[in-house]
Amino acid sequence: MTKRTGIIAAMDSEIRNLTAALEHERTEKIAGREIHYGNLEGQPVALVLCGCGKVNAALSATLLTCHAKVSRILVTGVSGGLAEGLKVGDIVIGDSFVQHDMDARPLFPLHEIPFEGFSVIEADPDLRQLLSNAGRVMLATKRPPGLENASLLEGLVVSGDQFLSSTEARERVLESLPKASCVDMESAAVAQVCRTSDLPLGVMRVISDSADGSAHIDFAKFVEETAAKACAETVRHALRAMAR
Ligand code: ADE
Repeated sequence: MTKRTGIIAAMDSEIRNLTAALEHERTEKIAGREIHYGNLEGQPVALVLCGCGKVNAALSATLLTCHAKVSRILVTGVSGGLAEGLKVGDIVIGDSFVQHDMDARPLFPLHEIPFEGFSVIEADPDLRQLLSNAGRVMLATKRPPGLENASLLEGLVVSGDQFLSSTEARERVLESLPKASCVDMESAAVAQVCRTSDLPLGVMRVISDSADGSAHIDFAKFVEETAAKACAETVRHALRAMAR
């Protein structure tokens, strides 16, 4: 039987295009979440709108793992750009993940998950490659308006229960994690669940802001009209490539 892929996004606008394209089979409600089962690009999938933050992300990833029995998880949506030169509209494919707000010092080193012995979690190399290829195909063939100058990079995605929106907050995170490419509120939590469950994880994010409060765009409008299209197209292409 073909393996089912779990797909997670935090906001409705980030996953709506995928839900709309789903050949829907059924929806299950569990633990306050809806899991939409069906086929996308010929692949069995389970879609979940997880809500914002690490607890919501971990809850949804656990439901996909233990209840929907998915074999891999893809996370998509927007993120704040941290790496120098990253612009709104650029694409980041996660190569690794850290919780930037994990701090149990002095008992454990900064960012280390207590008693787990690690802070950095790697993406699955195959899913990372698949999403990078899919993102490049999206940029080459179906780039939505607004992403005219977008480029794609692979890098460290850091997550925490905070929407970074000031220079101070941005600098604080970069000081301890200078290699961070972008920031969101979910990916590293999903990564911890995936690592615990030995489940491959791939993350694709579109940069929506610079995480410093200088948002010169209408955030909701950008997510809805531009980023969501790039996310859906990239994920659909990745699913198509999985079938090959
Ligand atoms: N997701 C998108 N932009 C973000 C930001 N600035 N901080 C945290 N998560 C984000």
